[in-house]
Amino acid sequence: SIRHPIIAGNWKMNKTIREAQDYAGRLLGLLGETTEIDVVVCAPFTALSTLKDELEESVIHIGAQDLSFAGNGAYTGEISAAMLVDTACTYVIIGHSERRVILRETDEEIAKKVKAALKAGLTPILCVGENLAQREESKAFAIVRSQVEKDLPDLSPADLKRVVIAYEPIWAIGTGKSATSADAQEMCTMIRSTLAGIAGAVADEVNILYGGSVNADTIVELMAQPDVDGALVGGASLDPEGFAKLVLNAV
Ligand code: G3H
Repeated sequence: SIRHPIIAGNWKMNKTIREAQDYAGRLLGLLGETTEIDVVVCAPFTALSTLKDELEESVIHIGAQDLSFAGNGAYTGEISAAMLVDTACTYVIIGHSERRVILRETDEEIAKKVKAALKAGLTPILCVGENLAQREESKAFAIVRSQVEKDLPDLSPADLKRVVIAYEPIWAIGTGKSATSADAQEMCTMIRSTLAGIAGAVADEVNILYGGSVNADTIVELMAQPDVDGALVGGASLDPEGFAKLVLNAV
């Protein structure tokens, strides 16, 4: 494949600075030599500076879980792309379903965040995915296609190539009920053909991940799917030993 696989852990709202420091040291001991896969740890803002100290010179990449669409100024509580770059972040999750649903983030805001990330040189991990009702009504493909089109408007092929997409069906997140690898493959193929419609051949170079109750066992079959280029991992990324095992099973 012309794509280099990615396994990204998303800690969500977990871990103090001290816990983050301990985690980084242990993960580095286990995966410090792994280069076959890009390993990313997406941490809360408060832990990023500690991860910079621990991981900046290593093969493990640092990611954030959100950013502001604005560059700087009167946006109380927000964190800019430049601030993330300053903490050695190279990735940022955008449009996670928890933000879309709980915090009512819209496709318009998400599209602006993707542009802000790209402009600062960050790799956006754009999350898309349908909820259970939409799946049961056979609307999953239409919903995901519409999210991809609305969240990635007027991007040049050169910019689109730098975007990572994570397909995360909402019903599979934190439920222990993963999509089958065949379902994941089918949706990732559909996403790739949507990207081809937007930007042509460059779609073959875009990394598309699956997320939703991925663990060290299910990762093996997922990675065997031709259009699944890695995973976005929540619960199974919280323990460094378990996460390292998952990454090594993905290689
Ligand atoms: O960003 C990660 C996903 O929301 C998946 O979470 O692995 O705990 O199901 P999970």
